[in-house]
Amino acid sequence: MSRLLVALAALTVSACSAPAPATPIVTPPAAVVQLPAVPQPGRDPHSFARPDEVRVDAIELDLTVDFDAHVLRGSATLALTRSVADAPLVLDTRDLEIERVEAHLPDRTDWVTTTHALAGPHPILGQALSVDLPPGADRVRVHYRTSPASTGLQWLAPEQTSDRAGEFLYTQSQAIHARSWVPCQDSPGIRAAVAARIAAPAPYRAVMAAEELSNETGPNGHVLRTFKLDQPIPAYLLALAVGRLESVQLGPRTAVWAEPGVLPRARAEFADLEAMLTAAEAAVGPYRWGRYEVLVLPAAFPFGGMENPRVTFVTPTILAGDRSLVSLIAHELAHSWSGNLVTNATWRDFWLNEGFTVYVERRILEAIYGRERAEVEAVLGREHLEIELADMSDRPGDQILHLDLSGRDPDDAVTDVAYEKGALFLRRLEQAYGRDAFDPFVRAWFDRHAFTGQTTEAFRAFLTAELKAPLLPGQTAPDVDRWLEAPGLPEDAPRPQAASLTLAADAAREFAAGRKIDARAFSPLQWIHFLRALPLKDGSRPAAAVLAELDAAYHFTAAGNAELLSEWLILAARHGYRPADARIREFLTSVGRRKYVLPIYDALLATPEGAALAREIFAVARPGYHAITRGSLDALLGAP
Ligand code: BES
Ligand code: ZN
Repeated sequence: MSRLLVALAALTVSACSAPAPATPIVTPPAAVVQLPAVPQPGRDPHSFARPDEVRVDAIELDLTVDFDAHVLRGSATLALTRSVADAPLVLDTRDLEIERVEAHLPDRTDWVTTTHALAGPHPILGQALSVDLPPGADRVRVHYRTSPASTGLQWLAPEQTSDRAGEFLYTQSQAIHARSWVPCQDSPGIRAAVAARIAAPAPYRAVMAAEELSNETGPNGHVLRTFKLDQPIPAYLLALAVGRLESVQLGPRTAVWAEPGVLPRARAEFADLEAMLTAAEAAVGPYRWGRYEVLVLPAAFPFGGMENPRVTFVTPTILAGDRSLVSLIAHELAHSWSGNLVTNATWRDFWLNEGFTVYVERRILEAIYGRERAEVEAVLGREHLEIELADMSDRPGDQILHLDLSGRDPDDAVTDVAYEKGALFLRRLEQAYGRDAFDPFVRAWFDRHAFTGQTTEAFRAFLTAELKAPLLPGQTAPDVDRWLEAPGLPEDAPRPQAASLTLAADAAREFAAGRKIDARAFSPLQWIHFLRALPLKDGSRPAAAVLAELDAAYHFTAAGNAELLSEWLILAARHGYRPADARIREFLTSVGRRKYVLPIYDALLATPEGAALAREIFAVARPGYHAITRGSLDALLGAP
């Protein structure tokens, strides 16, 4: 197994299924509630919630942003549906300080303090908060504050923002980080409507994944903004960003948010946003969230994008200047159907979110930019999946779509298996039955399950019941069981083809053999394929010499396209091409996107000089990384 995968696997703690004794910290002492140390069979293994007993239907946040203390403080008011009369409300929390819990009785205007108990911490899941409910209580209000360690929040100093003009806070709730900033039922199968009142110091603007209703000047130089989202969402889609943010309209339903210095570039890069939204609707049905906006975060953001409802959060590394990385926007937009509308019921069904999304993403790209562009993405996707599967050869369980994650951190599920194997499965179905039958099937999947969580088993049943069209001539039916439950890639997995990439792979072989190539018009995606196809190990010349020649001709070390640059820096690091070291240092100290930085650090470990450089850079860069990126790198390089 590669060190990279060891690093990811090391995030695993086999504790969800091992009964650890819970030592309740009880406030007040009378309220000792013995909670099970682990979630119950039949329930989501990554949540303590018991929605079949008491369910949260609406969340109302009232929070003040404290940039000095790096905490949010205030309350969460939760509206309840109670199915078992004397059952407590059980919530997920992690790194929250619970100050007081009140309950509301329908026939009373005042609130009464009620007893609660916080169970001992579980290494992955955090602490269950159990709230005793007086008879008839229909709402609970939890007064709390977050902690500077809350993993769902990243507080950035001015130097970590693009304009360096002020501080910045953003949330990243997926997979189970919402519980570190909101006490909630943090399971993707449980949905709640959202309302919020956010107080933030004056120069800063709070943006939520919700509709802004009002703003007013409050005490202490704070601005109070209210928000609401009527469509019920799972907790992992709760999102807030606070910073020097401004927005510009792009189309009737679309806009982009960014720091002022970034806004012009963002506006140009996302010029196709409205067209994408229209194309997506034509492919998968009406957009149900009102507006679609994109918010460009500072570079520490650990992901490429996050599909927060109404406002996708993205990394600034997407701003390539030539719209070459907009597939990421197509991806996050596609989540408005696969994920946000029809949601994986638990994290083991994660492929339903991501596999469907990659499939829909490519249908959007095809509609706007044509078949070749979509196929380029599909070829690169399968190529990367094969690289990852080879790295996972000793972990067959992780190659399964219907992934068993019990005892593990659900962030472990973020591999190409869910994304690319999932998309290949759907493409295989499309190929077997044809778009005339498959398109209505996909649409029915979204329409009939709108605003619900779905399991892999439910998908399989829906497939059997609904995709009844005859096979296209010459086609065979895919082995659904093999696709969903077995490791590896089935023999019949589609092999996408893109002429422009075949050209790039040919050029790579020619170049390595010392012959002239004509690559001046190559796109960044062609170059990525070129670099992956470059035979560096078995050539007659040392790899670093080939890289030097390439760099002299095509200036990769100065590339502005982050996807291409990261691919290049991986090669440079692995083969000890030292002229790229300064660029590696600059990149790793300014960008926090895990998908980029982890493989570069991993490649540096391939040589002794590289390993020394990796440790030196990490010592400097570590405090600036998001908890998710930092955790993966600690596992790779060792925590200080
Ligand atoms: N929802 C994911 C990001 C995510 C997944 C965060 C699991 C936390 C846990 C998002 O839609 C995504 O897939 N982002 C990709 C973008 C890409 C596939 C275009 C990323 O960040 O690299
Ligand atoms: Zn996604």
